Amino acid sequence: MSLSLTQIIPLLLHDFKSEAELVKATQELSAIFTRERSKIPDYGKDPRLVSAYTAFYGLTNIPKLAATLEWFPKDLISEWQDIELVDVGAGPGTMSLAWMELFPETKEIYQIEQSALMKEQSAKIFKGLYPNVKLRFHGHQKTSKKRIAIFGHSLNEMGLDIGLRIINELDADYILFIEPGMKTVFSLMLEMRDHLIQKKHKILFPCLGQGTCPLKENPEDWCHQYLHVKQNDEVERLTQLASKDRRHLPITVHLYAKEYEQKIEENKARVFRSLPETKFSLEMQVCLPDESLSLKHFQIYKKHYSKKEQKELEEIKAGDLVEFEIEKELPEFSRVKIKKA
Ligand SMILES: C[S@@+](CC[C@H](N)C(=O)[O-])C[C@H]1O[C@@H](n2cnc3c(N)ncnc32)[C@H](O)[C@@H]1O
Repeated sequence: MSLSLTQIIPLLLHDFKSEAELVKATQELSAIFTRERSKIPDYGKDPRLVSAYTAFYGLTNIPKLAATLEWFPKDLISEWQDIELVDVGAGPGTMSLAWMELFPETKEIYQIEQSALMKEQSAKIFKGLYPNVKLRFHGHQKTSKKRIAIFGHSLNEMGLDIGLRIINELDADYILFIEPGMKTVFSLMLEMRDHLIQKKHKILFPCLGQGTCPLKENPEDWCHQYLHVKQNDEVERLTQLASKDRRHLPITVHLYAKEYEQKIEENKARVFRSLPETKFSLEMQVCLPDESLSLKHFQIYKKHYSKKEQKELEEIKAGDLVEFEIEKELPEFSRVKIKKA
């Protein structure tokens, strides 16, 4: 099934009288998540904003989750076809909806959510779209089935202490954070990273090893990723009307596992940031899986590549994995040949 706005609209708590009313509510939400963050505790109490959230993020989360999963090893994705999903800070079930699109065999979802209205909206939308999926708002002991906890844009709202308490209670095998690509979120994620590594979880993404983050020494800098996603036509229209860009998304993704053998491949690097290109070269900063982890500036000469290959290399963005071969070590940077891994 490919979820559409037309399917979602009749299942909203609030009856939008016009497209303009929905667009206006979407813009209000966007302002709350960026400029007016003091209003965050309240949007979950307003049926109009809860409904706008559902309509907009119910759809945009789908390509976002799909593109995020592309960064992860394929064996994980097959394992997740049959895993228990705990959607933490589930809101109106918007990340669960994206999960259903990608893992349609899912029979049961456990959602943790503090807002009664959000839960009501989630129950309504699941009853309408997936009547056979059992939705639970209260947990039970973990079974023999593996469990993944997904924090979709929620850790930044609930904060570190509550997030850690929930993680302790859930005892999940995998923890996936999909949070906004904002500098304030990065410092929260760094703290979370320290706590989870101390508790013997392994970070699988974005870091290529368990060592200290090189940015700890450099508090002005921060790590986030970029997604380039294609939205469906209805969403494109809505985003244009709301003057929002949902194609080029800054995002903060972290994935942890209790047990996973991470293969360290020394010829691979995670793109940390694309830098302005020159006439002759592409430039990027990468994070290398050295004994600890370290940042490095890569320069890639365009002349080694055909026009088509250059176009592909230009598409490489923060978060992608590249395979590299050193051409020359220079004091300020390494000149390398790369390809997307
Ligand atoms: C931005 S919404 C995210 C919804 C959904 N996960 C998504 O990605 O679209 C964040 C949600 O986290 C919930 N939340 C914040 N603090 C919470 C807490 N302490 N316990 C449970 N839910 C919480 C909010 O009520 C809100 O519904």
